[in-house]
Amino acid sequence: MIAPSILSADFGRLSEEIKLAEKAGVDMIHIDVMDGHFVPNITIGPLIVEAVRKTTHLPLDVHLMITNPEQYISDFVKAGADYLTVHVETCIHLHRTVWQIKEQGIKAGVSLNPATPLNTVEEIIHDIDLLLIMSVNPGFGGQNFIPSSIDKIKIAKSMILKKGYQVLVEVDGGVKLENAKEIVKAGADILVMGSAFFSEKDYKKFMEKLKEKLKT
Ligand code: DX5
Ligand code: ZN
Repeated sequence: MIAPSILSADFGRLSEEIKLAEKAGVDMIHIDVMDGHFVPNITIGPLIVEAVRKTTHLPLDVHLMITNPEQYISDFVKAGADYLTVHVETCIHLHRTVWQIKEQGIKAGVSLNPATPLNTVEEIIHDIDLLLIMSVNPGFGGQNFIPSSIDKIKIAKSMILKKGYQVLVEVDGGVKLENAKEIVKAGADILVMGSAFFSEKDYKKFMEKLKEKLKT
């Protein structure tokens, strides 16, 4: 599945950008929420998620890069999130936060920074719907993919498969046409693409090229 990150979209034409992405055949819309505390950048909040909700029927994959995410869960649920992903580094009571999301009837995701080991999610993996592996340090679009992420994806995938859990592996950061195949081969179910997607003129052509790459 392909989830373009609107962080790299033209915000002046956001609804048009999302409609064009939808027409191009993407599977979900990735929305990066940053607070200037957990990450050194400030982006968007529930108001924009609500606006995006009105422009598309695609699932909204909301990535919370904020401290105290538990305080904002119901705001993002009300705004229309389908997946809500919190960072393990921001949750002292991760189990409670994950269940707080699930009890609101949406899918719960947990994300790991590049330097955070996989064993930090060992005790929660069977409760979540999505594991988001950051392949850059979160905060900005357009960074380079950290190569060691490939092994992390492989280990995460085999851990999930071995136990038979229904958890999607999502990879976020530096995903491009050139490395997409390798990342999928390593075990990614969802590729987040920000700059690689929105820097293209023709999203439909880009999706065709990407699907062709993933086939061969
Ligand atoms: C990074 C964000 C990403 C970002 C990806 O902190 O979580 O979703 O938008 O952008 P690219 O694909 O340009 O690395
Ligand atoms: Zn993201």
